[in-house]
Amino acid sequence: MTAQAKVDKLKEITNIAEKRGIFFPTAEIYGGKAGFYTYGHLGKLLKNRFENLWRSYFLEENFWEIEGNSILPSQVFEASGHLKNFNDPLTECKSCHFRFRADQFVEDALKIKAEGLSIEDLDKLIKENKLKCPRCGGQLTKAEWFNMMFPITIGAAGSKDISYLSPETAQNPYLSFKREFEALRKKLPFGLAMIGKAFRNEISPRQLFFRLREFTQAEVQIFFDPEEIDACTEWKKISSYKLLLQSVKDRKGDKVQEISCEDANKKLKLPKMYLYYMQKMQRFYLEELKIPKKDFRFYELSEEERAFYNKYHWDVYLNLEALGGFKEVAGLHYRGDYDLGAHQKHSKKELAVFLEEKKKKVLPHVLELSFGVDRNIFALLDIFFRVEKERNLFAFPSSLAPIEVGVFPLVRKDGLAEKAQTVNDELCKVGIRSFYDEDGSIGRRYRRVDEIGTPFAVTIDYDTMKDGTVTVRERDSMKQKRVKIAELAKSLK
Ligand code: GAP
Repeated sequence: MTAQAKVDKLKEITNIAEKRGIFFPTAEIYGGKAGFYTYGHLGKLLKNRFENLWRSYFLEENFWEIEGNSILPSQVFEASGHLKNFNDPLTECKSCHFRFRADQFVEDALKIKAEGLSIEDLDKLIKENKLKCPRCGGQLTKAEWFNMMFPITIGAAGSKDISYLSPETAQNPYLSFKREFEALRKKLPFGLAMIGKAFRNEISPRQLFFRLREFTQAEVQIFFDPEEIDACTEWKKISSYKLLLQSVKDRKGDKVQEISCEDANKKLKLPKMYLYYMQKMQRFYLEELKIPKKDFRFYELSEEERAFYNKYHWDVYLNLEALGGFKEVAGLHYRGDYDLGAHQKHSKKELAVFLEEKKKKVLPHVLELSFGVDRNIFALLDIFFRVEKERNLFAFPSSLAPIEVGVFPLVRKDGLAEKAQTVNDELCKVGIRSFYDEDGSIGRRYRRVDEIGTPFAVTIDYDTMKDGTVTVRERDSMKQKRVKIAELAKSLK
């Protein structure tokens, strides 16, 4: 895709999103604030559908969802290491005082991967390549670390009681682990999931939903006995499943290997439990979200790029044309006992648990499935966007479409509008999300529902009044067929 086509696609998606109520900048009447977006009515429906699909897919046996808090006390983040280490490199222009992320700037200017580089290496690259301020061409200061946590004061104690907005949902399951283990079956493995807000004071928010300051994460923390990391009860079923992997070595030449779980276990030394969740995540994208295989890959992070406690770390990358290629939307992190160990040490409360069946005490290890919901929503908008001769459309799979059916009377008169409203009400009653529209020509109404990704349109015409049938039009093929009203809900489902 050319640079111009990329800009056009991004512009087109943004135009439709803003015009039709998918998303728009927050507080735009006051000029907005970078890194904050609001979901309009359609965007919220799409997000709900994504989150519900995610829940029904990832909440396995003995996996439970909890709802913790966005504000957590400072001790949590002293223990987790966020207050010390959750930093991005910042540089400033000595002339115009524009402040921006040094690694992203180097990446854009030199077309290399710079995330994870030390500030010394970034300064060296800036100096050697004589890089100047992208706004005014001025000299840049040395890069320094900038902490991304949002502090917040609590109650009347004010600045004497500082808490923080949580930068990941993950901390809540760690804090709740012991209670939930006791309340449940006292068995491992068990999973605690949370869908909630995360807050990061990003230096340079950009690319719409890609670098937000407030965003939603859907994460599962799986607590397990470390001795079980290479065990998998489903191994026979999954061992021949082929993963799409780009290891660190494959980056050169931008290769992706199709490799079975069996081979990944033997050759790449990835443990069976890790592979089980890799194939599960890949299937979620390919089979549930219907992402084309060519647009999906697992991307391995090098030792320098991943957090020091992550023994294995592969991210899910999707090909997002409007943003210029493959981008991270989710990750699978083997966090070991880092988090429970750190909270145990700082809180001085024992977090190890006794496993009755095995007659032993363990401090569980954690495997984390982490999804940025907003990035995934943007990915759906990008991947399913189509430009055709006479229309633009989002070709969402039915399981994700914000509105499932548009119901239209051919004309408003002769009882057709009333009949169409009755059909619409009946569809709503049986749980089909339908939408009644009588404004404009039938052609324009079809274009409007296509544009928001509605898979079916039902038209009530004069034949309906005679024989009780309606026209059902399918979005992608635009083919139409007659269906009896009595069989409509069943047929649509
Ligand atoms: N609990 C682990 C964790 O938070 P992460 O890689 O920092 O790991 C997980 O974030 C996911 O959250 C990412 O894969 C991405 O989809 C999303 N994410 C991270 N930072 C984001 C931001 N500033 N804006 C939007 N989404 C973000």
